[in-house]
Amino acid sequence: MPVPQHVFDPPFNIVRSSHVVLDVVDLNKSVEFYDNIIGLHVEDRDDTTAYLRGSEEHQHHSVVLRKAEQSAAARLGFKVGSEADLDKAGSWFAEHGVLYSFVDRPFQGRTLHVTDPFGFRLEFYATMDKRPHLLRRYERYKGCHPQRLDHFNVFAAETQDTIDFYARLGFRLTEYAEEDGDGGRIAAAWMHRKGNVHDFAITNGKGPRLHHFAYWVPGPLNIIHLCDVMASRGLALERGPGRHGISNAFFLYVRDPDGHRIELYCSDYQTMDHDHEPLRWSLRDPRRQTLWGAPAPRSWFEQGSPFPGQEVREPVFVADVVIAD
Ligand SMILES: [Fe+2]
Repeated sequence: MPVPQHVFDPPFNIVRSSHVVLDVVDLNKSVEFYDNIIGLHVEDRDDTTAYLRGSEEHQHHSVVLRKAEQSAAARLGFKVGSEADLDKAGSWFAEHGVLYSFVDRPFQGRTLHVTDPFGFRLEFYATMDKRPHLLRRYERYKGCHPQRLDHFNVFAAETQDTIDFYARLGFRLTEYAEEDGDGGRIAAAWMHRKGNVHDFAITNGKGPRLHHFAYWVPGPLNIIHLCDVMASRGLALERGPGRHGISNAFFLYVRDPDGHRIELYCSDYQTMDHDHEPLRWSLRDPRRQTLWGAPAPRSWFEQGSPFPGQEVREPVFVADVVIAD
């Protein structure tokens, strides 16, 4: 299937993936998990909403937890280059039949809300309140020392169309998994704006759903420590620790109290060269999932966080992936 070409003059300038807004049923329990186990820093909270960030983030939040009746992935947040880019984004979405609205969000400047044609609920903003970063405040380090939100990974029912849509918005392909043979379909794509492996990964599956969001941590020992902390708390690990073939990430995946999946990872690589070429993986290559050869569990392929009000659709095709059973 077609591999999208790099677009260097997108209709508006998306800088990077920025923050995720999660609906959670027990706010105290969720804050306790992200604060004391994962090690994010609570920047503000009240009875209904909590805002957290990693230690190197200058901005006010990279996770927003909202008390809700049902768990959900409420919004995926992207930073754009300027206020003018927000207006360009609104115009572009309108031209392409996508409704948009400007909303007020605490601690953020003007914020644009859209639901893309595939059901992913997004928000774009140019400015957010600043805070002194905590990178050298080692006395405040906790958990696995998460430093910055790096990317989102979503389940998309219409994988190729979703990849093509985001390519038009300037997301550049770095790695992809494809069926073998003539006419092999792309089952997953890793796409970036900021110059590493990805800001947004698109995975074939029942969608739209959020598969996971990821924080960068300093090294593998931080991840091993989190494994020990989780075990000491009687909490299960979903997948890892391990080394992905794709992206070269040393990874761990855990689930929060609502089942939202969070990845902690380190050691991917730079991709900002204009002539950086995407790396193809066979869908059946076990080193793709885990360089060391262990396949991912069934929950990995089947479970994700829905977006509020968005019907989850069956994928256009079922990818023949290797599953650990
Ligand atoms: Fe990831």
